[in-house]
Amino acid sequence: MSEPRDYPTVASCTLLELPRIEDARGNLTFFESGQHMPFTIRRAYWIYDVPGGAVRGGHAYETLQELMIALSGSFDVTVDDGVARKTITLNRSYHALYVPNMIWRQLGNFSTNAVCLIAASAAYEERDYVRDHHAFLQARGAPGGVSE
Ligand code: TYD
Repeated sequence: MSEPRDYPTVASCTLLELPRIEDARGNLTFFESGQHMPFTIRRAYWIYDVPGGAVRGGHAYETLQELMIALSGSFDVTVDDGVARKTITLNRSYHALYVPNMIWRQLGNFSTNAVCLIAASAAYEERDYVRDHHAFLQARGAPGGVSE
């Protein structure tokens, strides 16, 4: 891993407003690699049929960058860089949350029928996951974690 000082912070977890083509027949939103997002899309996946109270995520990625969109319904994303933490509610299909590498993320509070679309910067690779929170804090040089 690179030095802790190189890692992004929660300040870079920003909400991007995607284009909206409003139409009486129904609205349309889109994104294109390089144009509306800070990386090239290599993979897309989606999370759906989430039972009430379930929590997804609970890890970081060493290199992967992602964009998260609530295509339907709503859910909360908590992002944590080892020093600061914030929670963003996604409930608009034209909002995309950018989550860079080495940010611990957890998704929860899913509404009924929520669908979370995730555009990712690389193919699936289990080796890129940081699933141990203590190891995450150590790697970030923030062994104390977030104080609340
Ligand atoms: P995981 O990323 O841990 O889920 P979460 O969304 O809660 O963070 O992935 C759950 C399982 O799905 C895990 O066994 C790996 C597998 N998986 C793939 O095979 N390909 C993928 O693109 C993703 C995202 C997950």
